[in-house]
Amino acid sequence: MYTFKTLKLVPSDNDLQQSEVIDLRSDTVTKPDVRMRQAMFDAEVGDDGYGEDPTINLLEEKTSKLFEKEAAIFLPSGLMGNLIVAGLQMREVRNLDDGTLDMTELLGKIRPEFPDPHEPYTTLVCIENTHNYCGGTILPIEWIDQLGKLTKERNIPLHMDGARVFNAAVSLGVPVSRIVKHCDSVTFCLSKGLGAPIGSVLVGEKLFIEKARRIRKVLGGAMRQAGIVAAAGLYALDNCVERLADDHKNAKKIAYAIQRIASPNVTVNLDALQTNILLVNINSSGVDAKYFVSELIKVDADGCDSMSNNKIRSTAVRIAQINDARVRIVTHKNITDKDVDMAIEKIKYVIGKIDASCSSQ
Ligand SMILES: Cc1ncc(COP(=O)(O)O)c(C=O)c1O
Repeated sequence: MYTFKTLKLVPSDNDLQQSEVIDLRSDTVTKPDVRMRQAMFDAEVGDDGYGEDPTINLLEEKTSKLFEKEAAIFLPSGLMGNLIVAGLQMREVRNLDDGTLDMTELLGKIRPEFPDPHEPYTTLVCIENTHNYCGGTILPIEWIDQLGKLTKERNIPLHMDGARVFNAAVSLGVPVSRIVKHCDSVTFCLSKGLGAPIGSVLVGEKLFIEKARRIRKVLGGAMRQAGIVAAAGLYALDNCVERLADDHKNAKKIAYAIQRIASPNVTVNLDALQTNILLVNINSSGVDAKYFVSELIKVDADGCDSMSNNKIRSTAVRIAQINDARVRIVTHKNITDKDVDMAIEKIKYVIGKIDASCSSQ
């Protein structure tokens, strides 16, 4: 017979405390805090298959208003949102360092519906804002406006993968609706910097969202009493947007600390840093990004000559490797001021080690 464990309704903040691992790999690692879990616990739910989950309905209404679009649909992931919008065939346009695209190259790649029946024709243009692999860069609003006008003239919808569009809005000090004014559809993620455990939302015109509801079902993404997770999304929109500014400030603090070391081997590009994603370059021939990542995780408490050194060495800092010469550091809601300071100390320690080993080669 199944025996139920004692049900502890809502854990205390202590239960949710982070260990000595400072996880800067991504803003997807954020854990729902006590108040967010309480909102999930309290959520009114119903069968969303019949449109009867009041919490999901509220989230969809709220987001369509925030983005000033006709309708919205709650989805399990950002990828599903992009898949629903983008279909199957992709034609890539190389992005520039700031996350924008070269308009001439883009226009050259657009395939018209007529006259050539042999080629697939362009049905969508997609952009990403903020741009993850360019280092969380913000696309200039005027550039998006201009692109939106060009795509409209050609009758091609413009979609924004706005997984982190709230980071852009907070950094620019404008509402998200202004950023996406000339976009026909937008996906944004509740499960990244906003800190919800699951979920993304796709917004756009009413008819388009009705079609998206059908495609979500076909993709196996229909949900039932998912108001439990939509409640976390609502909580995030009400309580976790403005605080994204803290993540941006923390990313800057780490970046300036690395720049101050003036290492010839490990550098940052401060101009590219606009939000919560910091790209760090490993310029050394003797050491690669993999080594940097593994040294930051390494916990080595032996042979320390002082208490503070001991603490630095016993702190594991996790970051993500992008390629052989580049790593990514992402600040988020679960990173405290103390975590930032400890991470900086550990980063300094590892860069010191790299510089010493490179200069002795
Ligand atoms: C810019 C961007 N778009 C889309 C996604 C996909 O989101 P999900 O993991 O919810 O499918 C990610 C994930 O990190 C992302 O960074």
